[in-house]
Amino acid sequence: MSEIMEQTIEQSRAERSAPLLALSGIRKEFGGIVAIEQLSLDLHSGEIVALVGDNGAGKSTLVKIVSGVHKPTSGTIRLEGRETSFADASAARTHGIEVVYQDLALADQQTVYMNMFLGRELTRGPLKLLDRRRMIDDTEALVKDLDVRIPSVRSTIRDLSGGQRQGVAIARATRWASKLVLLDEPTAALGVAETAKVEELILSLKARNIAILIISHSLDQVFRLSDRICVLRRGQQIGIRETARSDKNEIVSMITGLH
Ligand SMILES: Nc1ncnc2c1ncn2[C@@H]1O[C@H](COP(=O)(O)OP(=O)(O)OP(=O)(O)O)[C@@H](O)[C@H]1O
Ligand SMILES: [Mg+2]
Repeated sequence: MSEIMEQTIEQSRAERSAPLLALSGIRKEFGGIVAIEQLSLDLHSGEIVALVGDNGAGKSTLVKIVSGVHKPTSGTIRLEGRETSFADASAARTHGIEVVYQDLALADQQTVYMNMFLGRELTRGPLKLLDRRRMIDDTEALVKDLDVRIPSVRSTIRDLSGGQRQGVAIARATRWASKLVLLDEPTAALGVAETAKVEELILSLKARNIAILIISHSLDQVFRLSDRICVLRRGQQIGIRETARSDKNEIVSMITGLH
């Protein structure tokens, strides 16, 4: 084998194994409260990692750290190998990181297509007029591609069901996330059929080689979707398991500390 070929193979191996996101020694205190003691976690493109733990375990705090809402008290965040510190959530967004919350950050009075571009509206001409045509076409194509079933991209958000709204929120994350989507209990308020639809959308993000970190209280869901599971208990990182090599009993005892 030529030296160049060997180098190329070596390089692609390194690229495959290099994590998209590497968290190491993350600690977060709020005043005297330690929300996260010490957490280290790698996330690869096309991988779904579930973050589980009881109420107050520190899950949402971690999502907020990765999405630029909070700064860690200590520890480092590396994105594609580079140490990163996001000034705020919009800085994280410019790095291809999007978040979907349970209590969706959608504007209720606005249309689906305007929500898709909230704060990032497409404009045309020197007067920067809203380019509604382009936003509508773009949203229609995306919604069709992802099979999000809504009456129209001109529908107002408040007229949609919970599942349809969550579909719009995930479509928006898909539209903008080039690297990583963080989902904080995305199906907590949804029924069975709506949850199934949202899970399909999450798998379509994975198929697009996006890395996904999902918080869920449903272990059934965690076992349906994830490649790995990271367990937190009262701010402590208890362990990380490969989903295929674990089971619900093991994860429950890690979450509760009971055997
Ligand atoms: N902004 C804040 N100021 C002070 N304390 C906070 C803040 N945010 C979170 N905490 C505390 O940090 C701890 C972890 O909270 P966090 O919201 O991360 O938990 P969680 O795992 O997401 O829980 P849940 O499952 O209930 O959503 C809790 O004790 C919480 O009270
Ligand atoms: Mg939470």
